[in-house]
Amino acid sequence: MQSRNEKSNLVSRGMGGSPMKRRYSGPDTAGASVPQEVVNAPHHRRARGAHSAIVAFATIATLLAFATVVHAAPEAVSPGTGLHMDPAKVVGSAKCAECHKAEDNAWQHTHHFATFAALPKEKRAKEIADAMGLEGGIRRNNTCLNCHFTVQNKEGAATPIAGVSCESCHGAAKDWVALHNDYGQGKTRETEAADHKKKRHDDADAAGMVRKDRINLIAANCYSCHTVPNQELVNKGGHKAGSDFELVSWSQGEVRHDYLLNQSKNAEETPQRKRVLYVVGQATDLEYALRGAQKITEKGAYRDAMLARVRNATVKLDEVLKKVKIAEYDEVLAGVPRADTGQLKLSKDILASLPDKLAAASQAFAAKSDGAALEGVDALIPKDMKGTAQP
Ligand code: HEC
Ligand code: HEC
Ligand code: HEC
Ligand code: HEC
Repeated sequence: MQSRNEKSNLVSRGMGGSPMKRRYSGPDTAGASVPQEVVNAPHHRRARGAHSAIVAFATIATLLAFATVVHAAPEAVSPGTGLHMDPAKVVGSAKCAECHKAEDNAWQHTHHFATFAALPKEKRAKEIADAMGLEGGIRRNNTCLNCHFTVQNKEGAATPIAGVSCESCHGAAKDWVALHNDYGQGKTRETEAADHKKKRHDDADAAGMVRKDRINLIAANCYSCHTVPNQELVNKGGHKAGSDFELVSWSQGEVRHDYLLNQSKNAEETPQRKRVLYVVGQATDLEYALRGAQKITEKGAYRDAMLARVRNATVKLDEVLKKVKIAEYDEVLAGVPRADTGQLKLSKDILASLPDKLAAASQAFAAKSDGAALEGVDALIPKDMKGTAQP
């Protein structure tokens, strides 16, 4: 992993070095809405009577026979939250480090930090870029920038400044950075009034901050990158087709940076919180597997991986819901047609509607659950963390 010095070199090269300056034409795909033809298709078909049954109950296998060309759904985006990393709104991790030094140090020991310097030198990266016919280097390609880098507007030019950084997970900060820590005139964390605190949180949320409480949005961010929802990248580029990702084990290893109350101790999450992370993680896995599946238009590694992801995530979520009763998810899944094997019978209708329903359920569940009643899932939570947390 890089030392601090290497980092500042890289960052300053990224910021000042004209070779890296480039025009940014936005993320590969913009907007969070479901593609119109996906939304409409079932209605047209429904009007034709007999076809409705075929479409509504098409299995995963037959789905593709029907698939028309579907416009790409959003990538690296959490729906409805404006979590696109708008380069004009990125302030950069150096700003965060002014107050969050320990968190910054922990981040510098992660793959998320290292990818900035490492990726452009990796043989695999070049092979992927070549296979896709991308020109001009890894850090100049929107496709790679979207998930591996943080891009900031510098003197009008969009410039990669870091790997996956604070704002990739907590939201681009220009509009919230001055709000989120403002306890009010003459107040401290201890003396801030409760209504002021609530307003502070609400204002930060409205300005696009992904706070710790909003586990569903944090999870959405992780999965929007870690499912690798880019068919061309996987089929043509040969990129890994998504991570074997689970939210507790992947967030509580090298990624953990809980120093808010004590800058010299990286606190462990409570068992209760881990349960909520686990449950929301499983539901978000299914949500993003389905969002990824919406984009399937051809046979290949991408289709195989996304459909396998839908199957596995369904099994896992069912397992959770056998152990603990969660009305929000039970309600959403109750209306979904299943095969004898228990697998979802995917149709365009289900693909188009289920992800947003799962997102809404996760939001409602995350907002109210403290994990106390979820002991039932303890046995399902992995014991091995991904990488080692800083002390
Ligand atoms: C001027 C100091 C300062 C700067 C700069 C700053 N923070 Fe904070 N941050 C704080 C303080 C103080 C708190 C604790 C707020 C509280 O008590 O609720 C905090 C809390 C947080 C939290 C936890 C809040 C929650 O409710 O989950 C996150 C996440 C966070 N900051 C991220 C960032 C990021 C990312 C940046 C850079 C874009 C940043 N901060 C910049 C001072 C700062
Ligand atoms: C949709 C998000 C996304 C995009 C776009 C993306 N990557 Fe990745 N990439 C990831 C994730 C997530 C991992 C980590 C996978 C893991 O460890 O499970 C990764 C890992 C890698 C790795 C190491 C693993 C391997 O396959 O050998 C390479 C190399 C890589 N990416 C290259 C690229 C290149 C080059 C581009 C641009 C052409 C790119 N990536 C675009 C998400 C993305
Ligand atoms: C890979 C995504 C990711 C990145 C990158 C990231 N964070 Fe976080 N951050 C999280 C998650 C997830 C949590 C909640 C952790 C939990 O519940 O265990 C969190 C929590 C926090 C908290 C609250 C700590 C607490 O538990 O009270 C602060 C403050 C914070 N992050 C600041 C930062 C800063 C500053 C950076 C950059 C130096 C950063 N984060 C980078 C995902 C990330
Ligand atoms: C903006 C896209 C993005 C987001 C958001 C994101 N990641 Fe990642 N993550 C990546 C990429 C890309 C890599 C691979 C970096 C590399 O090694 O080149 C990675 C690697 C990792 C690794 C290291 C994997 C290994 O091989 O050991 C962990 C752990 C991880 N991510 C956890 C998380 C968690 C937890 C979250 C959410 C809290 C998250 N990530 C959010 C893009 C992202």
